[in-house]
Order: sequence, then C-alpha cells, then structure tokens
Amino acid sequence: MPLIRGYVDEDFIPQKGENMKAAELEVHNLRVTFTPKGRKVQAVRGVTFNIKPNERVAIVGESGCGKSQMARALVQLIPSHAGKIEEGKVLYDGVNLLSLTEKEMRRYRGREIGMIFQDARASLSPLITVGDQIVEAYMDHHPLATKKEAKSRALELLELVQIEDPLRSFGQYPHELSGGMCQRVMIALALAPDPKLLIADEPTTALDVTIQAQILDLLKRIQEQFGMSILFITHDFSLLSGFCHRALVMYAGEIVEEANIQELFKNPKHPYTKALLRSIPRLDLPKSSPLEVIEGNPPDLSKPIPGCPFQPRCKFKTLQCASFSPPMINRVACWLYDPRFKDKYELFTSS
Ligand SMILES: Nc1ncnc2c1ncn2[C@@H]1O[C@H](COP(=O)(O)OP(=O)(O)OP(=O)(O)O)[C@@H](O)[C@H]1O
Ligand SMILES: [Mg+2]
Repeated sequence: MPLIRGYVDEDFIPQKGENMKAAELEVHNLRVTFTPKGRKVQAVRGVTFNIKPNERVAIVGESGCGKSQMARALVQLIPSHAGKIEEGKVLYDGVNLLSLTEKEMRRYRGREIGMIFQDARASLSPLITVGDQIVEAYMDHHPLATKKEAKSRALELLELVQIEDPLRSFGQYPHELSGGMCQRVMIALALAPDPKLLIADEPTTALDVTIQAQILDLLKRIQEQFGMSILFITHDFSLLSGFCHRALVMYAGEIVEEANIQELFKNPKHPYTKALLRSIPRLDLPKSSPLEVIEGNPPDLSKPIPGCPFQPRCKFKTLQCASFSPPMINRVACWLYDPRFKDKYELFTSS
C-alpha cells in the first residue's frame, strides 16, 4: 500500500487576478440518481462545494461513494437512459452549466473544462496516432489554426508532459506506449484546448506508485505554470498531501468534511475521515501506530438513508444520528460538532 508522502503544501491563498484564465466553480446541492431496473439509486445526494481560480481541490472517498458521477454531472455527462440530474446548480464562472442545451454544453466540454479519466488507453483512439489525436483536439477548439500550427502545438504539448522523444511519439499509436506514457498523452490531449478547469478522475490509478507521483508532480507544475483550476478525484488519501490545496471527503453521495490539506491530516474532524486516515500507513506517524479497520459497509444507495449515512459504522454516534441528517457545522457534517453533544465530542477527540 502506498505511503503518504511526508510533506504538504504551504498554505494556499489564491490571489485575485493572479491568473485571469483559471475558472471558478460553484456547485450547489447537486443530486444525481440512476434507475437500474426501476430501482432508484441516489448516487450523489446534495453536494455543495466550490473551487477558486488556480486552486487544486480533491474529492476523496471510498469506491462507489459517487465521485465519478458527481464529476460527470458537472459537465452533463450522465447518460439520460441510465440516470438523471435531479437538482442542483453548477456555476462555471457564473454560468449555470446545468441550464445549457447540449449544443451550448459542447462549447464548455474540452475547451473550457478539460477531462482526464482513469483508463487512459481506453480513452484514446487505438486507430489514430497520438500526435494526430492531439492535433485534432487542438483544431476542434482553435478553428482558425493551420495544420502546421496545430502540429507544432501538439509537439510542444508532448514535450510539456515529458514524453521522452516527442517527434517519435507523435507518430506512434497508443498500444505502442506504456501506461504512464498514455496517461501523459491524455494530459496533453486535455490541455490542447487550453482549458480553465481540469477534472482529473483517478488519473493515476492504474499506474505504479513512482509513476503516479511523477504524473501528479507534472500536473501540479503545469497548473502552476499555466494557471488552471483542478478538480482531482481519488479514492487514495496518500496522493493528496503533495498535490492539493483543499480536500472534500465524500461518503455515500455526500460531502462529509471539507478542509485545507494540512488541516485534514493534522486534525481530521469527521469520524469517517479520522478512521480512514488511521487505516493507511503514514510516514508522519510513529511506526508503532496501529492501523484501524473501519467495520461495516457503506449504506445501500437504493434505500432511504435517514440521518447520518456513516452512523451504522460510527463508534461515536448519538441518538439523533440515526434519524436526523447532520448539518454542516464548521465544514464537517457531524452532530459531534453541535455544542449540545459536548460530552460525546470530548470522548471522540480524546480517542
Ligand atoms: N449506470 C449506472 N446505473 C446504476 N447505478 C450506477 C450507474 N453508474 C453509477 N451508479 C452507482 O452510483 C454510485 C456512485 O458511483 P460512482 O461511479 O460515482 O462511484 P465512485 O465514487 O466514482 O467509485 P470508484 O472509486 O470505484 O470509481 C455507485 O453506487 C454506483 O453503483
Ligand atoms: Mg469513479
């Protein structure tokens, strides 16, 4: 299992106007459902968050908690035969993306909002050379560019993502490249239209730990150099500390905690976050620290979830947790932070 790298970013305060290019995103009460065989699955259950210009924000949570569907909903990519965006607003620099028609939305996908998905090889066309794929992506969004300009930009992008021999790779097909190289090509493709927001959904999951770190360092450098906002999605806490400014912890389709990255590792607030952090080996803790196992499973999203979704697994639950959904109290959705439950809170913090 990968270890958490032993450093974190400096406190980050995005500077207003520092880079006019990067976009701002505000998501309000986003709800997404799927209806397999007539059964309603609540995949995303009222998610609210924002990303400031130039900020790198992570969504982290266990498999199946709704990260990918939430990200797809942001750009209206929920297939209408399977699911539905029930409610919510996605304000991209003030424009509600959810109110746009498919034709209008196409102007945003790729051009304004770049997307990188987990399985790079599957996302690339096997029949077109990587160079031509980047040229195509560039020309789609820069209709006035000549083929020569597009080719030279494609080579620049391959160099930017540190492909060893850009000229050679330009003419290669995806199957001729390693997984790490394909992932770099995916990044180059996503950057070709010059997006202001990048959504990277598990962009390194299929790769080994060293390559994961290299790709994330690369993304970070590109983001710092060119200015962009990034939504980074992962189930792997160990990837957050060197990469993100802020993290949102997702559980059963909801955001249960939001924190600056140092704060999250130093002082996790939600019992779920705390348990998750205790379940992974960390370089910043003594070797003797025991690893914790979170007993039980996440709730079935096709059944009603009264109260807090984590309460059946929570050692600190109080009576109302089973019946009343906790509000966000100081950026954490947990009743322990309600002053009325001070005793339980003290027990929790001393645990
Ligand atoms: N097409 C679909 N039909 C029915 N349910 C779906 C569909 N797609 C997703 N879901 C359900 O929505 C929930 C959220 O799925 P999602 O893919 O967003 O999870 P995730 O957090 O991205 O997980 P992972 O870390 O494994 O990628 C899951 O319970 C999943 O079963
Ligand atoms: Mg996913």
